[in-house]
Amino acid sequence: MTFIRALAGACLASLCGFVAPAKAQTYPTRSITMIVPFAAGGPTDVISRIVTSHMAQTLGQSIIIENVVGAGGTTATTRAARATNDGYTLITGHMGTHAASVPLYPKLAYHPEKDFEPVALLAGTPILILARKDFPPKDLKEFVTYVKANSEKVNAAHAGIGSVSHVSCELLHSILDIKPVGVPFNGTGPAMNALVAGQVDYICDQIVNAVPQINAGTIKAYAIATPERNPSLPNVPTTAEAGLPGFQAQAWNAMFAPKGTSPAIIASLNAAAIKALDDETVKKRLLELGSVIPVPKDRTPEALAALVKSEIAKWTPVLKPAS
Ligand code: MLT
Repeated sequence: MTFIRALAGACLASLCGFVAPAKAQTYPTRSITMIVPFAAGGPTDVISRIVTSHMAQTLGQSIIIENVVGAGGTTATTRAARATNDGYTLITGHMGTHAASVPLYPKLAYHPEKDFEPVALLAGTPILILARKDFPPKDLKEFVTYVKANSEKVNAAHAGIGSVSHVSCELLHSILDIKPVGVPFNGTGPAMNALVAGQVDYICDQIVNAVPQINAGTIKAYAIATPERNPSLPNVPTTAEAGLPGFQAQAWNAMFAPKGTSPAIIASLNAAAIKALDDETVKKRLLELGSVIPVPKDRTPEALAALVKSEIAKWTPVLKPAS
């Protein structure tokens, strides 16, 4: 009798739609790929490695960095947009791949807002005007005079059309009304190597890439394009102090997942990223490199979505060729 009653109970329960809770989905159950759209050793790569090395501890799975280069980061970003949205392929995008590229690539194969789920802002990265050690101008005022007088002869290194280094110097060049030669690299890691070797004249690069070289005395830093000096470079004047207040530029690097990645996975990744940004060792490394660590209100996926929207709106009129 007991068996039948138990069976009846089970049937009744199933008829009432009671379903035992499925085994809670666990994520991640295997290693995660983090695509970095530029060459190893550049600012996006360095920030990605610092943050994901901590995230991997929290998530209990390794996070493998895959550097995919080309077309100012849009090659990698297109690949990430098309990746399976299962949480196992992510990308570190930035002001270039997820904002400036929209006006610069009319046939861009992705849209930053439609094809990605924002996960978390990782670091703000002030821009500096940097030059090879033996570039003749000794300060920003002399730099402005020199590049205006020699604009056909000087060259500016960058990481491809639409990259932060390209777009930041485009802004500088529009202010100075010059059109120097651009020298593209697969990232500002290799571009910095060329600058240190004296093979290119100057670059507008993110602070993360500049601090080690400035401290080593291998390059010149004319100014930082933010209203305040950066604690990691107390002796580098702001562009305003150096006589070019109109040149203000700060980039950012952030984590994205393909559109349709589940909210639970996004929440898990966002929590791990926030935990990394609150870790003393991670904070110390990012701050030493001049990063601006996002404040709590700026760490949510919603805040990142708003940033992407506002940055596209900001850069489109600046970069879109006058129609
Ligand atoms: C890099 O990591 O190489 C830079 O973020 C490229 C760039 O200038 O956008």
